[in-house]
Amino acid sequence: MTFEKILITGALGQIGSELDQYLSEIFGRDRIIISDIKEKNDPRYKKIDVTDFNSLNFLVEKYKVDTIYHLAAILSATGEKYPDLAYRVNVDGLHNVLEAARINKVSQVFIPSTIGVFGPETPRRNVPIETITRPTTLYGITKVFAEQLGNYYQRKFSLDVRGVRFPGLISYKSPPGGGTTDYAIEMIISAVRKQNYTCFLREDTVLPMMYMPDALEAILKLSEAPLEKLIHHTDFNLTSFSFSPKELAHEISNYYPEFSVIYKPDFRQEIADSWPESLDASAARREWGFAPKYNFKETVKDMIYHLQEIYGH
Ligand code: NAD
Ligand code: SER
Repeated sequence: MTFEKILITGALGQIGSELDQYLSEIFGRDRIIISDIKEKNDPRYKKIDVTDFNSLNFLVEKYKVDTIYHLAAILSATGEKYPDLAYRVNVDGLHNVLEAARINKVSQVFIPSTIGVFGPETPRRNVPIETITRPTTLYGITKVFAEQLGNYYQRKFSLDVRGVRFPGLISYKSPPGGGTTDYAIEMIISAVRKQNYTCFLREDTVLPMMYMPDALEAILKLSEAPLEKLIHHTDFNLTSFSFSPKELAHEISNYYPEFSVIYKPDFRQEIADSWPESLDASAARREWGFAPKYNFKETVKDMIYHLQEIYGH
């Protein structure tokens, strides 16, 4: 049985906070337990550090959790600053989640992966799922391991583990959590707030991206896909479009002609340079029928519309 009792780890993050709202509307708020390491005043909230196996296992057992969306992680840029923390959260935390799921006979675990699994030796364009995955960031290394560990639990213990390699996700409801693709969100917010933006990537750095509503739909659609239709499990490439900071600044200038960007690449440039420009996401279409709805222009337009509601026109 799935979706009777859902646990979201990392539920206060960029994806988790929106996934909670999205799943609550579909399944009802009381079916969802939200957890994170931060503080939150909500009766459904349980403060759990995913590196603490006993607390996590107790929670899964006590509430008879049947579906886990494991979103607690340290992202690429923060991971380069704190590699030890990234290892503990992304490797030990994932192992704890899979173990708690196995022991308590959880029906399904969703573990998002990332374009961070790719590295400088990966082809740059239209990257297939099966390719060279030799990342140079600790984040990427932990995510290659996560994909493989998920597949191992699938094979060895028949635990239904699923995941996608998300590109950079663009959203306005919750701030991004320390990734390399965060610049795109920061740039749009700066424009709406009528501030200029100093970009930490070079203007010609092309990366694959997706708007959050498509990412949320993808998560649920993959969760609901019949297991027997899936050839892949934890490593589906996903993408909607690719753009560079310069192209984004140009698109924004259609709404804010005065907006300007200064480019001051920092340590995140090296991370971005190790990632591909575009992905082949055809397996997601073939195996579970996913196609994103938002293109680049619609994403920027919708972001600006909602951010104007938040920050004023
Ligand atoms: P985020 O940083 O916004 O959220 C992660 C959450 O995990 C935070 O709220 C943080 O407090 C929590 N957390 C950190 N350490 C924890 C611990 N020890 N125990 C419990 N919670 C802990 O990240 P996100 O963007 O929401 O990403 C969620 C998942 O999606 C991650 O696995 C990430 O790798 C993946 N992903 C995200 C993107 C993106 O662009 N946002 C792209 C690709 C993959
Ligand atoms: N958006 C994420 C990051 O930049 C990709 O996994 O870290």
